[in-house]
Amino acid sequence: KRNLVINPAKRRLLASHTVADLEKYARRKLPRSIFDYLQGGAGAERSLAANVEAFGRYSLVPRSLSDVSKVDTSVDLLGEQYDAPIGLAPTGYTRMLAPAGEPAVAAAAGAANLPYALSTMATTTLEDLTTACAPRNLWFQLYIFKDRSTTEDMIARADASGYRVLEIAIDSAVGGNRVRDRRNGLTIPPQLTLSSLIDIGRKPGYWTGVVTQPSLRFDNIAKSAPEFGGGSTAYINDQFDPSVSWSDIRKIRELWPGKLVIKGPVSPDDAQRCVDLGADGVQLSNHGGRQLDQLVPPVDMIADVRKAVGEDVTILMDSGVRTGVDVAIALALGADAVMIGRPYLWGLIAGGRAGVSHVIGLLRRDLEQTMALLGVTTLQELREQGPSIVRRFA
Ligand code: FNR
Repeated sequence: KRNLVINPAKRRLLASHTVADLEKYARRKLPRSIFDYLQGGAGAERSLAANVEAFGRYSLVPRSLSDVSKVDTSVDLLGEQYDAPIGLAPTGYTRMLAPAGEPAVAAAAGAANLPYALSTMATTTLEDLTTACAPRNLWFQLYIFKDRSTTEDMIARADASGYRVLEIAIDSAVGGNRVRDRRNGLTIPPQLTLSSLIDIGRKPGYWTGVVTQPSLRFDNIAKSAPEFGGGSTAYINDQFDPSVSWSDIRKIRELWPGKLVIKGPVSPDDAQRCVDLGADGVQLSNHGGRQLDQLVPPVDMIADVRKAVGEDVTILMDSGVRTGVDVAIALALGADAVMIGRPYLWGLIAGGRAGVSHVIGLLRRDLEQTMALLGVTTLQELREQGPSIVRRFA
């Protein structure tokens, strides 16, 4: 008699056919306040909803009967070739959501040959992460701190560790109004310390894995500026510099020898300004609806920004991408690639590294299938045919 034992995580992944299936699992598994941190948006959460709804307002017009027996999703992006136009966006405090943390995300990104941007607010140091995948898959997202030496130290460390792309986030001069976190007391008073995490967890056992991790701190900050230490989001948020301006971008451009992306502009003017200051690309984003509420869904700005900056500038977008069809829409509108945030975190929560790989596989296969049904076989074709393929009807 065959004894078929499939471990629960594997069974969960096999039963998950969309990222929404994994989202449901994450909602059930995480303590409420932690899930709210992951899921929530700013203010009335209108951007949060609009990001996803915006994709639904586009319609696709395929080209029939083109030979689509071979579909190629590979993309040249900022000097590297990746297997699909899908990156994993920077997210803070990953170990709080799942003990496997950033190394599991990086390993999945590396195995699929996609880029992963480590956050300044990561709970793994940027040096440690280099053991999880090749440097070509690693980008670093930078927040500019009041103490510029901390910022500069992180830039030097990212360079020394071989990170390919520096992404400066410019949408966080001040924190967003995260009502759920305030209601849960997640940030005020600062409760994200090791011991309070145990209190927050509804199921005490769940956190055992988390608290045995060597560090549950913002490791990159702790390493670059030990005096900032580790556990309080409110304290760290206070180190963000609201006086950041365009001249800071110019300075960082001089310090960073690699490719530079600015994360957070959405207007054609701001995007052009980033390019004028030496950025190689822009990432249209509203931070997944977590910063300024009612900030326009970035997908709706892609075409205008492409028109303003021309064909050669790299345009990435994130916020609301949930399916391969969404990826195709963004590319047809003029983006070179998209990034996902919450979807890979849902995968991580459901199944660690295998869960992240599962999410990547779902989106990738969906994109391939979508391209085939659209009648395009390469991303270049999708871009070139974009204007006739994607329509927005009111
Ligand atoms: C984020 N995001 C983010 N961005 C960033 O530049 N630095 C950071 O530390 C974080 N932290 C973070 C935590 C969590 C839990 C989430 C969900 C998001 C924003 C992220 O990079 C990206 O812009 C959005 O997640 C994209 O939207 P979707 O895919 O989540 O809809």
